[in-house]
Amino acid sequence: MILEGQGLAQARAVPHEASPAAMIAPVAVARPRLPNAEAILPYLHRIDAARWYSNFGPLINELEQRLADRFARTTKVVTVANATQALTLGLQAMDLMPGGYVVLPAWTFVATAHAVIQAGLTPWFVDVDPVTWMLDVAEIEDLALNLQGEVVAVIPVCAFGAMPDLDRWVAFRQATGIPVLIDAAAAFDTLHDARLPAVVSLHATKVLGLGEGGYLATEDAEFAGKVQQLTTFGFNGCRDSLIPATNAKLSEYAAAIGLAALDSWPADRLRFLRTAQHLRIALIGRPDVRFQEGWGTDWATSVCSVALPLGSADQVANSLRQDGVDTRQWWGRGCHTNRAFTDCRREPLPVTQALASSVIGLPFSIDMDAHAIARTAAALDRALSHG
Ligand SMILES: Cc1ncc(COP(=O)(O)O)c(C=O)c1O
Repeated sequence: MILEGQGLAQARAVPHEASPAAMIAPVAVARPRLPNAEAILPYLHRIDAARWYSNFGPLINELEQRLADRFARTTKVVTVANATQALTLGLQAMDLMPGGYVVLPAWTFVATAHAVIQAGLTPWFVDVDPVTWMLDVAEIEDLALNLQGEVVAVIPVCAFGAMPDLDRWVAFRQATGIPVLIDAAAAFDTLHDARLPAVVSLHATKVLGLGEGGYLATEDAEFAGKVQQLTTFGFNGCRDSLIPATNAKLSEYAAAIGLAALDSWPADRLRFLRTAQHLRIALIGRPDVRFQEGWGTDWATSVCSVALPLGSADQVANSLRQDGVDTRQWWGRGCHTNRAFTDCRREPLPVTQALASSVIGLPFSIDMDAHAIARTAAALDRALSHG
């Protein structure tokens, strides 16, 4: 079965024109692993005992508190059905001018732009920095200054889990007055600072997953309350719906998985880092395979996106497929190239285009074994040597 986009829990892609090597057993690009039944069971017993299944029960409260405790300063966490909804509701809670432009990087997953549109706002795609793969604060500052009033918010995206310079974004917020919402979907491990509101995904493909889920973290308790109100029909302590809203709550069952995932997170984090080291070492002879700065050394994430020589991504992906090694271009040709966003405004995007032609997601998972790592490295070596 070949799965599209991020739905990889079952991915076992068998290439159409597989070589004999590929027929052995393909190396999957991702093999998410969520807490097993035994780990979840104690929490399920608590749900049985409490007979409280949704609507801010004890497990969701505990999950939110444990997530908030991971931040350096006092922080509020609001759990949401998924990160796309959390971004949408975060923008709605900012009370921005309807239809206003929200600057976002073209180098991101489609969810970022969908959230902007769902919030009644207009995406404006901007290029990213070639080294960090993220928005450049100085560039956005210039853009915002030149177009006074047109930009109502900015969404810096944490590229595959890397963290942008938050001090600079806080300074931007103060200098321009423009609200900033961090899309930290893949940055569960790196996000410990919520001076600016930030959204994390708890999707199964993420480093800490509970199936579908996400959260918004902020130091602004009032803002957190507004986002929470938007997740629950606009209710706020009474049965009167006070604002137009939706239902985007997480159930107690999702919280059970999240709590079990948090229990094993310290050990799981080390497992992710250790596997990353093995993959890095296997590719040590290939300086033309460039990892993100700090990937697998300073921070843990669930995917391994590497930059290859300019323009080689498609050819390398094809070659790996022939060798039975699955890859994924997680952000495709750039978010702006999706047909849903054809009409959206964009700046020149040369860096995004270069990244789209040179970045591929290699196989990576918490327990990727030595054989899969060796096959991936050998296939990549072959592809690049013959390229
Ligand atoms: C950058 C980015 N933003 C948002 C999302 C959406 O997350 P979710 O699947 O929890 O809605 C993703 C998902 O992969 C993402 O990569």
